[in-house]
Amino acid sequence: MWTSGAARFNNYFMNLIKYLSRGFWASRLMGIFYVLAAATVGLAQATLPVLQIQADKVTAKMPPTFYGLMTEEINYSYEGGLYGELIRNRSFKADALPEIVKPDAYVLNQYYPAKFPATNAPKFWNAVGNVLLALDTNTPLNAALNVSLRMEAPSASKSSPAGVANGGYWGIPLRPKTAYQVSFFAKAAAGFNGPLTVTLESADGKTVFARAEISGVTGDWKKFEATLTPNNVKPSRENVFKLTTASPGTIWLQQVSLFPPTYKNRANGNRVDLSQMLAAAQPKFLRFPGGNYVEGNYFNERFNWKQTVGPFEQRPGHRSCWGYWSTDGFGLPEFLGWCQDLNMEPVLAVFAGYTLKKDYIPAGPGLEPYVQEALEEIEYVIGDASTKWGAQRVRDGYPNPFKLRYVEIGNEDWFDKSGSYDGRFAQFYDAIKARYPHLKIISTVGNEHPESARVHSRTPDLVDEHYYRSEEEMESQSYMYDERSRTNAAKIFVGEWATRVGSPTPNMAGALGDAAFMCSMERNADIVLMHCYAPLFVNVSEINTPKQKNDSMQWSSDLIGYNVLSSYGSPSYYAQKMFGNHGGDEVLATAAQNLPAYSWVQPARKRDGVESPAVQREAKSLFYSATREKNSGKIIVKIVNRADAPQAVKIEISGVKAIAARGTATVLKAGNRDATNSIDDPEKVVPVTEKVNGLGTRFTRTFPPCSITILELQAK
Ligand code: AHR
Repeated sequence: MWTSGAARFNNYFMNLIKYLSRGFWASRLMGIFYVLAAATVGLAQATLPVLQIQADKVTAKMPPTFYGLMTEEINYSYEGGLYGELIRNRSFKADALPEIVKPDAYVLNQYYPAKFPATNAPKFWNAVGNVLLALDTNTPLNAALNVSLRMEAPSASKSSPAGVANGGYWGIPLRPKTAYQVSFFAKAAAGFNGPLTVTLESADGKTVFARAEISGVTGDWKKFEATLTPNNVKPSRENVFKLTTASPGTIWLQQVSLFPPTYKNRANGNRVDLSQMLAAAQPKFLRFPGGNYVEGNYFNERFNWKQTVGPFEQRPGHRSCWGYWSTDGFGLPEFLGWCQDLNMEPVLAVFAGYTLKKDYIPAGPGLEPYVQEALEEIEYVIGDASTKWGAQRVRDGYPNPFKLRYVEIGNEDWFDKSGSYDGRFAQFYDAIKARYPHLKIISTVGNEHPESARVHSRTPDLVDEHYYRSEEEMESQSYMYDERSRTNAAKIFVGEWATRVGSPTPNMAGALGDAAFMCSMERNADIVLMHCYAPLFVNVSEINTPKQKNDSMQWSSDLIGYNVLSSYGSPSYYAQKMFGNHGGDEVLATAAQNLPAYSWVQPARKRDGVESPAVQREAKSLFYSATREKNSGKIIVKIVNRADAPQAVKIEISGVKAIAARGTATVLKAGNRDATNSIDDPEKVVPVTEKVNGLGTRFTRTFPPCSITILELQAK
């Protein structure tokens, strides 16, 4: 990497400080040298960067839904993540045989029952005692759950029970004095007269933490429920759930479920720690259900929302495009419940007749049923109880219609090289606008794709741009929106973006690239109306296993990592939280001079089918934005110094009489850009807020190396 003479000098200086700081006088020396280093940068740089803020010139109102969330069923985000369910493969469908249904053979609203290998015991379930396990398609619970687990126990007794064990999503988390709700459907062959026992046990079977007995199993399917409450267990995840019998016989099971207490005590709800972490970042919208997840690999594997509503035992589930089975316990109503719990506005993506394996239905009569299905889905979200689908939402537990303003047609349709998107978009656009004129329609082809791939027959209200970039690329494009035309009718939704540095979760370099880009989006909030980082979640329990068979991660650099017991935010999460908590209502005009820069080599690459050779590029290393809270008059200045050296910046604020000398600084910084958080070291890089002095309408402040700073200034 090329650095300016001043920055190079400063790097040597900082290395000297690091060396000296290993010794006895570490903390004192650090303080003295830090001041000296800052002064040196000031001296060595002929002219300091200057940031001018015009407090009397508002360039945009901050959109009320500027910052939001996006993920999908990837990396065990819902099942094995946010969704509270602790039993893995509760409906025994994880073994379903892959099946492909092409669009011309696919009948909308027809249910394509999954098929299963003849004799397998289901994945993630183990035999306990003398028992034969088998997937049984001859004794289904119903048409949706068209398979069951058959347990044949030729012998069983109190001292040697027979049954099944489930190890959950890489463990079953147990906490003391916590009530876990068990439920399952069961029936038995004639002659079985024993009760069933459910237990929470240590994985080695040595300790039983909680136990309940269930009687009344007959020859007919019935639902059973119990509560298991461990007493003084240490929080742990090396546990299993067991369902056993001390009486010989044959028993069938379906939808075996175990729920911990959930966020806001919602039935079938969400995990508490993850929900709290999201709530703390104050997101304003949720883009769902995908991502690729809305499309699926094939028509029969798309997110078929009608099969994700209603009672859970009536939801057949489907194979997600990310390689594992989804029970659809986390379906359309649960997405809305998530919105309700976190006070987010839904941004609904509808299936638009195109799948990841490039099957599609061109615009015309063949597409019309899918358009109608999208209208019905919108009705589910916003219709009142007098409408067919509004009434279904009410039955699903959500009496009030949701506020919906944005609907997206498909996902990443630039992959569709058939050229069908323009026509498909137009057909959805016309029908939705005719029925719901207030809705804003989003095209999935943004300005980052060639003009020829974009929609021309209609003017989308917004276009969805996706940017997955390296730190250097992200920083290089961090002034691009300042150059964008202000006359484009379509506004911008950055519906997926991330600085992809670090795995499973991004490191400080990722956070720096993210913050640089967020400054850019904020400065340009007159044209960028919404943005959401993606993906949000990753289960870090099993990363990069040799055969990649049971990997808990399909996509690296995800905002929040977890196992079943604990979770952590990456530096990028804290950057999101800092920006989300300090949005302001108005964007102030800014200008800057003497911004430092660095150069880097962009490797050869192929993007959008276009190959480009390696090329040397330049990026700024300082980024900024300024907003204001209208009522309090507070001015919020964000400064990102991505350099490895401290950077002094002159800040000049015009258009206010005075600025209080005292204010607040919230700083996220790290000793180096590789620094990161992890499940074992969750708070290595976290923001710190402190009172600061020396502020005014003109002041110079030195920003630490690799840092993101939010200054809160009080205008007088
Ligand atoms: O966020 C991961 C994937 O990236 C999304 O599913 C897709 O839209 C994009 O390509």
